[in-house]
Amino acid sequence: MRTIHISASKDYDVLIGEGLLDKSGELTRKVVKPCKCMIVSDDTVDELYGDRAQISFSYSGFDVVRFSFPAGEASKNLETLTDLLNAMGEAKLSRSDLVVALGGGVTGDMAGFAAAIYTRGIRFVQIPTTLLAAVDSSVGGKTAVDMPFGKNMVGAFHQPSLVITDTDVLRDLPALQLSNGAAEAIKCGVLNDPALFALLEGGEWLDQIDEVVARCVAYKRDVVAGDEFDTGNRAFLNLGHTFGHAIEICSGLKLLHGQAVGIGMLMAAAAAGCPEALIRQIASCLRANGLPTHCDYGAAALAEAALNDKKRAGGAITLVLPESVGACFLKKVPVSELSGCFERALASQAALGL
Ligand SMILES: NC(=O)c1ccc[n+]([C@@H]2O[C@H](COP(=O)([O-])OP(=O)(O)OC[C@H]3O[C@@H](n4cnc5c(N)ncnc54)[C@H](O)[C@@H]3O)[C@@H](O)[C@H]2O)c1
Ligand SMILES: [Zn+2]
Repeated sequence: MRTIHISASKDYDVLIGEGLLDKSGELTRKVVKPCKCMIVSDDTVDELYGDRAQISFSYSGFDVVRFSFPAGEASKNLETLTDLLNAMGEAKLSRSDLVVALGGGVTGDMAGFAAAIYTRGIRFVQIPTTLLAAVDSSVGGKTAVDMPFGKNMVGAFHQPSLVITDTDVLRDLPALQLSNGAAEAIKCGVLNDPALFALLEGGEWLDQIDEVVARCVAYKRDVVAGDEFDTGNRAFLNLGHTFGHAIEICSGLKLLHGQAVGIGMLMAAAAAGCPEALIRQIASCLRANGLPTHCDYGAAALAEAALNDKKRAGGAITLVLPESVGACFLKKVPVSELSGCFERALASQAALGL
């Protein structure tokens, strides 16, 4: 088992290894005294892993209640959050009790937000079951639900007490979910870690999934330690996301987040005027991981979608642009130039046959 220590407003460990789900109660007991705990999952994960988590926590002395909700992003809203808070109230959870988020990013974001606001904040433990949640959403303390006026628009910063990633669970993920998470790992490689990128480039890294998760978490640890509340360098984590969110929205959410972010990274590289070889290298890494490289939408539609991005500060958008694998820079672009950026990126994509 690997342990990565995160230092933020609260310190906590991220544990990564095989077979950790069945030890999750025991591992949690080392940081949270046995108490009442609410295990929160979507219905898919609840069916697959809920009993095993419950057995482990009960065996370790926790008094377990469970809450599940329909799987999917559409559940990450105030309505499900209210149901969850009511279930916590009915189960009489007190401020010294615990929420366990067992699932992907949807579960982690929503259960984490419930933990942030229930009785003004109780502890929570993340047990990510998707690669995306393991490499990204379970670390860093951002929690939220979606609103009619935008994704993740209501939430809080609330750090978990512990993150437990069972890599056996990740290995059993459907291929689509693995590639969805791989896009965020490729992002970490392009941002900061050429060795991680090289590992992912081969496409055959499942037997080294511990290494992939650990490298991404270590990178996120460093970024979050310097900018927990997202006012500075945390912006780097948005590589591919301004373009990617726009693509996601234009696809009517048919493309998964990671698929859109992958194309978004390519477009960022093209918009930055990166050498052709670098763009081709990123494209081939995406393909090796089952991710698409072609953007089906026009510049005007993309720019309009991007303008709804909450990360826009005043009249400008901060883009993360690659220089090489392992090095990126931030560039503030006036909103009026955004459409031109998309046009340049699409033209370069077309010229390269992507
Ligand atoms: N908080 C953050 O910093 C942060 C960062 C990135 C993304 N996010 C959020 O994360 C969410 C996306 O996360 P996600 O991709 O994990 O989505 P998700 O939680 O909806 O999981 C994707 C699908 O995989 C299924 N699933 C989960 N674990 C499984 C398993 N082990 N085996 C089989 N199926 C399994 C789920 O039931 C779901 O249908 C978005 O809402 C996004 O906003 C948050
Ligand atoms: Zn993302």
